[in-house]
Amino acid sequence: MDKKKLVVLTGAGISAESGIKTFRDHNGLWENHDVTEVASPEGWARDPHLVLEFYNQRRKQLFECEPNPGHKGLVELEKHFDVQVITQNVDDLHEQAGSSHVLHLHGELKKVRSTKDESLVYELEGWELNWGDTCEKGAQLRPHIVWFGEAVPAIEEAIDIVHQADIFAVVGTSLNVYPAAGLLNYVRSGVPIYIIDPKQPAYQPTSQITFIQENAGTGVPKLIKLLTS
Ligand code: APR
Repeated sequence: MDKKKLVVLTGAGISAESGIKTFRDHNGLWENHDVTEVASPEGWARDPHLVLEFYNQRRKQLFECEPNPGHKGLVELEKHFDVQVITQNVDDLHEQAGSSHVLHLHGELKKVRSTKDESLVYELEGWELNWGDTCEKGAQLRPHIVWFGEAVPAIEEAIDIVHQADIFAVVGTSLNVYPAAGLLNYVRSGVPIYIIDPKQPAYQPTSQITFIQENAGTGVPKLIKLLTS
């Protein structure tokens, strides 16, 4: 018998206990940086060195981080379900934990791409991408990240995956950023939704939504108990 499809939308919160800053919590990344300066095409055009340094620092930090029980719990769930992770995160902690199916909506920190031909994507050796590092066509390389104002190429694929979910979970995202946040609208009616976040959501849980007000590290193990007992 085929396993039920469990689709999990994750955000910065699932990596918080691994030591990676979220964006909109107190002392979050966006409190220390102006998004338009370091995460937009305009910022790149204005000062590419600042942008390269911003992502070099985040990449350097990632090398010191490892998956936490939240990431590992999603791998555990693969014993019981066909698990598909759709993440807004650009770290590779889901992959490091061993998740089999991970779709990155906002790009990947350890990848870079040509500014001349966006189909030319490369795994970065080490943590530094510098001005003058070029692709095979001689064009400057940029972070393989979806910046504010840029399209989210994987969103159609993500919508298809959400449509097929038998169970849907949301872990560690403020659901502030579209189109990612809009994925919730594509969950079929009657499909149970579980939301794991230490902060109370803006809306009241419905009969379809179960809210687990916990950090990912304890909330995901609770979800495993709920789904497998
Ligand atoms: N475990 C689970 N959730 C947590 C934890 C934790 N330990 N700590 C914080 N959270 C929750 C916060 O309560 C918040 O709801 O994680 C969420 C983090 O929200 P954001 O900082 O807005 O991060 P995210 O939702 O992933 O941002 C989406 O915005 O800046 C862009 O491209 C960037 O992918 C990012 C997107």
